[in-house]
Amino acid sequence: MSGFDRVARIYRWLEYVAFGSSLQRARTAHLPALADCRDILVIGDGDGRAIAQLAVVAAHARIHSIDMSDAMLREAAQRLPAAARDRVTFARADVRTFDPGHHAWDAVLTMFVLDCLTEDEVRRVVTTLAGGLRPGGRWLFADFAIPERGWRRLRARVWIACLYWFFRWRADLAVSRLPASEAIITAAGFVPVAVDVRQAGMIRSICYEREGA
Ligand SMILES: C[S@@+](CC[C@H](N)C(=O)[O-])C[C@H]1O[C@@H](n2cnc3c(N)ncnc32)[C@H](O)[C@@H]1O
Repeated sequence: MSGFDRVARIYRWLEYVAFGSSLQRARTAHLPALADCRDILVIGDGDGRAIAQLAVVAAHARIHSIDMSDAMLREAAQRLPAAARDRVTFARADVRTFDPGHHAWDAVLTMFVLDCLTEDEVRRVVTTLAGGLRPGGRWLFADFAIPERGWRRLRARVWIACLYWFFRWRADLAVSRLPASEAIITAAGFVPVAVDVRQAGMIRSICYEREGA
């Protein structure tokens, strides 16, 4: 059992109370960039709100979604539009040990999931997932961030500390600080081609392309 099983049914409502529609807008901001993709890998999609939209936008793509939580996977499967069911597969897997294959995917999505890993884990996962992407592949990323300075920084630090406290308490999350995921993805050879910023810089959503694509 994953600790996230315990929050699967209330996750959506907690999010709306805390941030309104900001997270969902961040998840969906760059989905149109994947409209022509054939094979898309989704990591830790939780209750499936990104996939429900992705399946509509990328109308011909095969989508494979992995998550560590059975309850989250169930929620995601229920949310999927009926017409997309034969194109989407769900599997319980830990991204830290998942093998994405070699050049198997046109795009990978990591939305609010790399923040569940330590920085060393993010480094290893990014290297592995990058190997799974085809040349010209895209990486859609969304996560929390701490702005450089001022009240925005203070606000983000307080919110993010509260979020880690909550997920440590309810979901047994072992991590308690944000990894430098954006820097790690960039260092792996990806270039941000579109950036969407919300909640005074605390929520960032980025569409990356592999350098030299
Ligand atoms: C904070 S929730 C985010 C869910 C969703 N991506 C979103 O945009 O809200 C983190 C999700 O990632 C999953 N997760 C956490 N660590 C994981 C891992 N190592 N491998 C696969 N999934 C993981 C959890 O089960 C949960 O569904």
